Amino acid sequence: MLDSATLTRRLLDWFAARRRELPWRRDADPYRVWVSEIMLQQTRVEAVVPFYERWMARFPDVTALAAADEQEVLRRWAGLGYYRRARMLHAAAKEVVAAGGALPADRAGWRALPGVGEYTSAAIASIALGEPAAVVDGNVKRVAARFLALGLAADDRKLHQAAEAWGTALLAHAPSPGDLNQSLMELGATVCTPRAPRCGNCPIAAGCAAEEPLSHPLPPKKTPWKELQLDFLIAEKGGRYLLEQKRTGWTPGMWEPPGVRLGRMVSTTPLGSVRHTITHHKIEARAFRQLDWDGVGAVDPAAVPLSGLGRKLIALAERGR
Ligand code: ADE
Repeated sequence: MLDSATLTRRLLDWFAARRRELPWRRDADPYRVWVSEIMLQQTRVEAVVPFYERWMARFPDVTALAAADEQEVLRRWAGLGYYRRARMLHAAAKEVVAAGGALPADRAGWRALPGVGEYTSAAIASIALGEPAAVVDGNVKRVAARFLALGLAADDRKLHQAAEAWGTALLAHAPSPGDLNQSLMELGATVCTPRAPRCGNCPIAAGCAAEEPLSHPLPPKKTPWKELQLDFLIAEKGGRYLLEQKRTGWTPGMWEPPGVRLGRMVSTTPLGSVRHTITHHKIEARAFRQLDWDGVGAVDPAAVPLSGLGRKLIALAERGR
């Protein structure tokens, strides 16, 4: 067995040697760390990097973000998905600037901002402020489940609690809490991976209790997928389209071609279909081109934030134009 001081030292040494160079790791500026952690929720590191670079070029600090118009914020988020994150980040930036412009100085202050939960407040407070707050994400839970051979399911709250307690014990020996937290996330992302863990490269393999790493954590209870068929009207003139801004649904605030009911359609021709997956739904979206459209109210699709499904439908229409 390895004691927690030894574990912490091995993790920190490993992280210092093996950490990936990522744009938000260049310095521990709280705004930069904040944006990166929001983008990294539900999204892989490789997918985030280009968005992050463009975002920072346009919104280099909280003042620039707060001053931006929501449509532009959403447009620059388009492609990352889960747009609620962008809306909350923008709302939080406005809140910070309205209160004088200073970012929170501790975890509790961060936790009070819109869109900043348990995970994000711990990540920002540890990485940017040096606070010993344990982060628990999917990677950390998997590492803990294996290292401690916990027979718990991936979505069991008890696994979350056990991972947090383990992280807290390790943090007690870490001079740099942000590095310890990131070492666990990084270990999960690059070595203790879900399907093909590289135990030979693991700095803490000597203390690992898992005889069969792949059997930890246990699989979560499955959420069933719903299949859905939806129809959309494609009305286009000179590269501009009939688009509507969603008020409700999966992507409020985002734009897409209007949904229609087949029976109500006049003079259309089928254009094809696209598939789209969003929170427990698999959608087949069929597109119908409106013939002889007068173009009243046409919108340039590049000028508004399109939903993911909206982008697929416009791309389909553009190919068939
Ligand atoms: N996933 C989310 N945030 C991360 C970070 N700071 N380091 C490694 N993986 C992460």
